[in-house]
Amino acid sequence: MYSKIAGTGRCLPKKVLSNADLEKIVDTTDEWIKSRTGIERRHVVSDGETTGTLSEHAARQAMEAAAVGPADIDLIVIGTTTPDQVFPNMGCLLQARLDIHGCPAFSIEAACTGFIYALSIADQFVRDGKAKCALVVGAETLTNIIDWSDRATCVLFGDGAGAVVLQASDEPGIMSTHLHADGRYKDLLYFPSGVGQGLDSIREGQNAVRMKGNEVFKVAVNTLGAIVEETLSANKMTRADLDWLIPHQANIRIIKATARKLGMSMDQVILTVKDHGNTSTASVPMALDVAVRDGQIKRGDVLLLEAFGGGFTWGSALVRY
Ligand code: ACO
Repeated sequence: MYSKIAGTGRCLPKKVLSNADLEKIVDTTDEWIKSRTGIERRHVVSDGETTGTLSEHAARQAMEAAAVGPADIDLIVIGTTTPDQVFPNMGCLLQARLDIHGCPAFSIEAACTGFIYALSIADQFVRDGKAKCALVVGAETLTNIIDWSDRATCVLFGDGAGAVVLQASDEPGIMSTHLHADGRYKDLLYFPSGVGQGLDSIREGQNAVRMKGNEVFKVAVNTLGAIVEETLSANKMTRADLDWLIPHQANIRIIKATARKLGMSMDQVILTVKDHGNTSTASVPMALDVAVRDGQIKRGDVLLLEAFGGGFTWGSALVRY
């Protein structure tokens, strides 16, 4: 038994923040942001939009594309670092929004790699016969935990949600997933406080994402190159067997460096970073949905999804769409 992607969906917040808008908030320029990151605009939550509202819309789209209803879903796994509440977990909150009852529902916190972790877990449930129709979501509202006076981080991030429906299938589908983490890098990219340290820990100066950008960049390029090699070798495949690379959309320079290492043409790389910014765990499923809906990705294509994020965590999924 395998799992197969039966439908995809995405949701972006209404409000768009351009680089020109950011020029009015911090000491930056459109030229600096574009040349260092490839980002031109990003969507940010406003007017009651939350990780939950974005997830719900993305999930409904994916379910519609897969032609399934709430009663068909027997597992919900959502990757997010920015849940609406500490608990119930974001999976349960999404379950309630979708009027789904009784199936397991949980969230995974693996920063930007959360969706790949969630996909891998859902794939295992389907392979083990424990689920037949899983909803897998990556959703993030990182702009809620950004220091809007720190030009080094506030220009990078955006909000959004992407979703897929995974269904049991006689043929793959998800060909393999590979997950990794190394907590020794915990101080390169992190949010400093948490409720486990007491609510007082979430005070001014402790309430925004921190990043050592240069160091993250170097590890990200090496690690993403390595995981692509690991994935191909585990499947006895070469780069020539890949139709599309769908990388985490953190920074165009990281994406280009990874593609160059692999000898892949940028024509085979799905790119959304220009319009979405870095949406953390939402970036890969949203890029997948963009490429499916605009007709770039076709049934039967071989896709390599990969992501890297705080922890560090990193992972890949090889998929026959
Ligand atoms: N506008 C103008 N100048 C800026 C800005 C800005 N928004 N931000 C920083 N600068 C300045 C710095 O102050 C510095 O000035 P100085 O030389 O006078 O000290 C100069 O630009 C260079 O700063 P660097 O940090 O060295 O710039 P770099 O070329 O490394 O680019 C960036 C920074 C874009 C963050 C880069 O390091 C990067 O992309 N790193 C990877 C980060 C990333 O992608 N993280 C996410 C991956 S994991 C995840 O998605 C959670």
